[in-house]
Amino acid sequence: MSAKKTVLSCIQPTGHMHYGNYFGAVKNWVDLQEKYTCYYGVVDYHAITMPYEPAKLRENVWDLVINLLAVGIDRENLFIQSLVPEHVELGWIFNCFASYGQVSRMTQFKDKSAQSEEKAEGFISVGLFDYPVLQAADILIYKADYVPVGKDQEQHLELSRNIAQRFNNQVGKEYFVLPESLYTETPSIKSTADPAKKMSKSAGEKHYINVFAEDAVLRKQIKSAVTDTGDTPAGTMSAGVANLFELLKACGKLDAYNSLMDDYHAGNLKYAPLKEVVADALADKSAIFRENKRELTANKKLVKEQIKDSSANIRKRAQETIREVKDLSGLLNVRF
Ligand code: TRP
Repeated sequence: MSAKKTVLSCIQPTGHMHYGNYFGAVKNWVDLQEKYTCYYGVVDYHAITMPYEPAKLRENVWDLVINLLAVGIDRENLFIQSLVPEHVELGWIFNCFASYGQVSRMTQFKDKSAQSEEKAEGFISVGLFDYPVLQAADILIYKADYVPVGKDQEQHLELSRNIAQRFNNQVGKEYFVLPESLYTETPSIKSTADPAKKMSKSAGEKHYINVFAEDAVLRKQIKSAVTDTGDTPAGTMSAGVANLFELLKACGKLDAYNSLMDDYHAGNLKYAPLKEVVADALADKSAIFRENKRELTANKKLVKEQIKDSSANIRKRAQETIREVKDLSGLLNVRF
């Protein structure tokens, strides 16, 4: 028996991958693969809870798969949620173990329903309301011990534990593992164009650096990074300069980081060389990511087959759970 603990996390198939997502979450997922049994899902059933375009959704799913593989997620660990339909089956069962009052208090629903209302002329789907219950199924179906997520997901994790507990009480047995969130110290990368904001796609093009950016684009973005805006109190580092240091550290360039930090404390830090080492460090990473992506894209058909296979493999684990859950909960359990 392996004593390895299980980690699960999922990501919605939307948009580009930028260095904010990468250093803030995905790099951590890559690193966790060394120590844990990991399951990483691309959650397309979650993506349809908001207004969306069907053709675009499928494209985004495969794009995200390729992006995740390109930055170092192992393909055996990756699955597409809709290829493991047992998530939805468990989600339904969990609807009957989730408290309506508790689900009504989810703050992500409050934020997202406002966005949905705006986009779809007042329409808010029941799926959006039910989203955290499906999330609980994503986690519990693999009996995950740890879920690496941001603080904004703590409420959903709490709901998952409550559902597990209620199920366990009903069946009179500690069947489900109560999952814990796994917080790893990850840097919060800011927009280089406006270091007061988080790096994000929604703020617009100049506010994020694509991890697959071409050299020239990336260098230009770092070169034009805001450093001093003049409103930083004396003796404190401006947010823009701090962000450049953060990027350097995130890239693992600790020698350069320390020596430039010494320059800063001695009062003779020059921004141009700081920007240059940051740009070099990111450019090195992006060159590798771009090459990986180029190769994966050239073999897209094969990649699709491989991810269908890894999903089918991971599905076996989910099916085992569903069979046990049906047995325990009084549902019929016939294998056709
Ligand atoms: N709700 C998560 C987010 O917004 C995505 C997600 C869906 C998830 N299912 C999950 C995260 C299961 C962790 C575990 O980022």
